[in-house]
Amino acid sequence: MTQTVPSPAASLPDTSVVPPVWGRIFSLEVERGEGSWLVTRDGDRYLDYTCGIGVTNTGHAHPRVVKAVQDQAAKLLHGQQNIVYHEPGLRLYERLQHVLPGGPWQAFLANSGAEAVEAAVKLARIATGRPAIIAFRYSFHGRTAQTMALTAAKDVYRGAFEPLPGSIYHASYPYCYRAAGGAHDPAACTCDWEAQLDLLFHQLVYPEKVAAIIIEPVIGEGGYIVPPPGFLPRLREITREHGILLIADEVQTGFGRTGELFAVRHWDVEPDILVMAKGIASGLPLSGIIAKADIMAKFAPSSHGGTYGGNAVSCAAALATLDVIEEEGLVANARERGAQFLDGLRALKASHPAIGDVRGLGLMLALEFVRPGEGDGRVPDPITTKRVQQACFDRKLMILTAGSYVNVVRIIPPLVTTAEEVDLALRVIGEALDEAGA
Ligand SMILES: Cc1ncc(COP(=O)(O)O)c(C=O)c1O
Repeated sequence: MTQTVPSPAASLPDTSVVPPVWGRIFSLEVERGEGSWLVTRDGDRYLDYTCGIGVTNTGHAHPRVVKAVQDQAAKLLHGQQNIVYHEPGLRLYERLQHVLPGGPWQAFLANSGAEAVEAAVKLARIATGRPAIIAFRYSFHGRTAQTMALTAAKDVYRGAFEPLPGSIYHASYPYCYRAAGGAHDPAACTCDWEAQLDLLFHQLVYPEKVAAIIIEPVIGEGGYIVPPPGFLPRLREITREHGILLIADEVQTGFGRTGELFAVRHWDVEPDILVMAKGIASGLPLSGIIAKADIMAKFAPSSHGGTYGGNAVSCAAALATLDVIEEEGLVANARERGAQFLDGLRALKASHPAIGDVRGLGLMLALEFVRPGEGDGRVPDPITTKRVQQACFDRKLMILTAGSYVNVVRIIPPLVTTAEEVDLALRVIGEALDEAGA
């Protein structure tokens, strides 16, 4: 039977072929990406400050990543990890042993962020022989059963899927802007997270039953919340006091996003297990964990794994991604462009009362919207948030929302973005704020 191959110009199927479970943010059909830009079939160019949710840190289609993918695809697409070793896998496993100070570290490679969180939790339980896990309110860790149970960012991620796995407890996160005692400067944090954690140990779970505390060093989906400076170092001390492992979920914060290769470096905190995905391979599906070697050794052969983890082409993309991050100074650029962006956003806050808070670390930036003059001045305003996002999109700037009340605009530029692009985005955001009546 002969098959007709559609010509490139042929119209695409109607978008209704995509199931509604993919809640839609923009209705945009893109053909290609170049650096910070997405391009439609009609040649319209959009400044992509979503990065596919923090994935394309090296920009779209970085030539070195594309070349590595093409070369590897021509050699070997799939070499299953239980069956063979392949060159990009061996090289990446070796390289990931050295991306954090200290150690010795060993990596494990999987496919998605949620899958890597699952691996971290399984490993923590096996390594400690303890059952319980503590996560934080506002956190997001994925959409599998275990990671939904860990997640507390927003009802939609878990609300319809009870019952969820047990022995998971949620601790209070120091969200200085929304602190019960009033918004305050994180540098002089008065949040009572430590007392709440202590209470949790007295009310709900013995600390000696806790295998791990899992934390996003900067909260992502929950609202791009940067913790106060003392939080992670103190949490590390508390976990050590109780023999609890610390898992840093760096799926969104990793690979240079915050102005360090991994965000825990801002506070000089050493986790026992670090979870990575998204930015690791510039868009190819890959994830993993890095654990202290003695902890990783507790994973008995075949007690964990998967068919596709550590895919050869994805590993080649990851190696090229690490080269680009290092050789093009992308971590420093994230710091510099981040500072430029944050200054600009702070200036916009002065003339837009609906902006309750401006925050960020590196190129992980956010505006939190409130209804000025209502309640205590911090009433969340998801409507203005959506309007600002739409007004930006109308001007061909793509940004995302976040937060438990969806009242946060989050901005995730690629780490290759230029000073001119940041200025352009700030101009557009200023216009969008005006149009939205913020
Ligand atoms: C901090 C964090 N952990 C885990 C995940 C889950 O990753 P994935 O969607 O690749 O399963 C995400 C995704 O947004 C995330 O931001």
